[in-house]
Amino acid sequence: MQYSRNALIDHVRSQFRINWHGLHGTNHWARVLHHGRRIGLKRDADLLVVELFAFLHDSCRRDDGHDPLHGERGAEFAHGINGQFFHLNSQRLDNLCHAIRHHSSGDISTNPTIQTCWDADRLDLGRVGIFPSPEFISDVASEMIDYANELNRR
Ligand SMILES: [Fe+2]
Repeated sequence: MQYSRNALIDHVRSQFRINWHGLHGTNHWARVLHHGRRIGLKRDADLLVVELFAFLHDSCRRDDGHDPLHGERGAEFAHGINGQFFHLNSQRLDNLCHAIRHHSSGDISTNPTIQTCWDADRLDLGRVGIFPSPEFISDVASEMIDYANELNRR
């Protein structure tokens, strides 16, 4: 088995410190995954990396508010469990860890997989009343802003 989704989520949950159903919990991850798959299919992104980003990028938060090092902790966590719940080669692991480490830095990337991860997370900012500026998301994601905000109103 190259990828064990259920075992990964169980493992993430076993060390998760904040509200599992909160602002940065599983409902958010599910929307990030949903957006990421849609964007990633159109941008030819690495969909496994995009999925792992959804489950791991906020996995090491210690606070639902300001927590500037959560990306760094999440990247280290992801790196440490490669080979256990998923098996990425070094290039794919670098993409995953870079996307996690810098996801809240306001960066943009020319790498379609990394930018798809950030697009997907940014499209869900509507849940806290923030709407991403088109300069920080891809054109594909820009076309999904209204749809993403509608998901958050339900
Ligand atoms: Fe997030």
